[in-house]
Amino acid sequence: MATSPTAATADPAASNLDRLTLRGSHAAIIGMQWGDEGKGQITDVLTQKFDLVVRYNGGANAGHTVLIGEQKFALHLVPSGILNPKAINVVGNGVVIDPEAILSEIQGLRERGVVIGPNLLISDRAHVVLPYHKVQDRLLEQALNQGRGGGEMIGTTGRGIGPCYADKALRGTAVRMGELLDLPALRDKLRHIVDVKNHMLGALASGYGQAFEPFDAEAIYQQCAAWSQQLGAHIRDTTDLLHNAMESGKRILFEGANACLLDVDHGTYPFVTSSNCSSLGIYAGSAVPGGRVGDIIGVVKMYTSRVGGGPMPTELHDATGEQIRQTGHEFGTTTGRPRRCGWLDLVAVRYAARLSGCTGIAATGLSVLAGLPELKICVGYRYKGRDLPSFPADANVLKQVEPVYEALPGFGRPVAECTSFGELPGPAQTYIKRVEAFVGVPVILACVGRRRDQILVR
Ligand code: GDP
Ligand code: IMO
Ligand code: MG
Repeated sequence: MATSPTAATADPAASNLDRLTLRGSHAAIIGMQWGDEGKGQITDVLTQKFDLVVRYNGGANAGHTVLIGEQKFALHLVPSGILNPKAINVVGNGVVIDPEAILSEIQGLRERGVVIGPNLLISDRAHVVLPYHKVQDRLLEQALNQGRGGGEMIGTTGRGIGPCYADKALRGTAVRMGELLDLPALRDKLRHIVDVKNHMLGALASGYGQAFEPFDAEAIYQQCAAWSQQLGAHIRDTTDLLHNAMESGKRILFEGANACLLDVDHGTYPFVTSSNCSSLGIYAGSAVPGGRVGDIIGVVKMYTSRVGGGPMPTELHDATGEQIRQTGHEFGTTTGRPRRCGWLDLVAVRYAARLSGCTGIAATGLSVLAGLPELKICVGYRYKGRDLPSFPADANVLKQVEPVYEALPGFGRPVAECTSFGELPGPAQTYIKRVEAFVGVPVILACVGRRRDQILVR
C-alpha cells in the first residue's frame, strides 16, 4: 500500500527550520548553476513556512527530486509544495504545460497517496505544449546538427519547450491553457495552426531526410477536449489569485526550474533553455511585481553538474568526475542521461548570484564531496593567457577558458549525520566560508544528504 507522504511531514527538519529567519513574506528558490542543484529538496522543506508555492518558468524539462522517508518523488510540472498538504500550488503563466505530462504526473502522485484537488491551480495564461512541439524540438536539433556537420548540439530534453516558447512569442500559432475552456473556438483555431505546422515541419523533415507523419487537427482537438475535462477544474486566473493572496497577507514561495546559467537571456547562450530561469523570470512568469520577493535563496551544489551540450569550464573527464557522478547519483531526473560532473565553479556562481539578487545560499552536495581527499574550487578564468574580469557572454569564449583553481583540504570524515553547522568537520566549514566570501552572499542552509532532516540551518 502506498504510504501517504503527509505522514512524513513531521520529519525533524520542521523544528530545525524555526531558526531560519527570512526578510520578507515571499521568497524564491533559484538554481545558481546549470540545474539539478537540489531545488526540489529545499522547496519541499521550506514549503511549511509558506501558504502558496509557485512555479513561474520552464516546463516538463525540469525534474525535481524529493525524498520523504523511503519514498522518492520526481516532480516535473507540479510544484514541489504538493507534498505538503497545507500548501496551495500554482503553475504560473510563465510555465509551458504539456497536459499529457502533467496529467500523468498527477496520476502518479495520486497513486502514491498525494492528495491533489483545489490545491493545484494552473494559470489560464500559461502556454500549452502540443504534440507537434515535441516533434519540432527533435527535428530542429537533428537538422541543425546535420547542417553543422555534427557540431555541438544543445541537447534539449525533447519536451517541446523551445518550440512552445517560440510559438508564444510568435503569437499566431500559440495556444494558452485558458483556451482549453472554449472548445468550439479552439477547434477552429487548431485547424489553421496544425495546417501551418504540417507545412513547416514537413518541409524541414524532407529537407533533411527525416521521417515526418503530418498531424491531424481533429485528433489534436479531441485530445484537447479530453484535457479540458481532466484539467478544467484546475485552470484559473492565477494572476488575480496571487494578487489577492498577497493582499490578504499570504506568504508565497517561488520554485525556480532549470537554473541561472540556463537562462535564455543571461545563461550560456545558445546552450540554455528557453525561459528566464533566474529570479528575473519570477515577475513576468507569475505576475508578482519586482521588489515583493525579499529572500532569493540560491541553491548551489558544492560541485558542478551539467546535462546536455555547452561549455562547462570545470568539467572533469577523469576518475574524480566519475566518482562524483556515482556518489551524487548524477543521472537526469527527466531523461536519465548521465550528467557531466566537475569542481565547483565560483566564478559562474558569483555571476548567477549577482544576476538573481541572491540573499542567501543553500549549499547542497556536501556529502558527495566528503568522499574526496582534496577539493578544488574555480576562482578565476584565464582566456588566451589573461584573466577574464567577468563571466563571458560568448559560449565560445567560455569553452576555451582555463579555470584557475584553489585547492582545499578534503573533509576527512562523512558529514551525513551532522545535525548542525558546528558539527561539520573543520575543512567543510572552511570550504563553506570560502564559498560565501567569494560569492559575497552568506550560506544560510546546508544539505548533508537528500532527506528532509538533512538540511542544516546556520
Ligand atoms: P533539482 O532539479 O534542482 O530539484 O535537483 P535534482 O533533484 O534534479 O538533482 C539533484 C542532484 O544532486 C541529484 O543527482 C542528487 O543525487 C544530487 N545531490 C547530491 N547531494 C545532494 C544534496 O545534498 N541534496 C540534494 N537534493 N541533491 C543532492
Ligand atoms: P531542473 O529544474 C538540468 C538543459 C537541457 C539542455 C538545455 C535545453 O531539474 O534543474 P530544453 O529541453 O529546456 O530545451 O533543454 O537545458 N536543461 C536542464 N538541465 N536541469 C534542468 O532542470 C534542465 N532543464 C533544461 O539538458 O541542455
Ligand atoms: Mg533536476
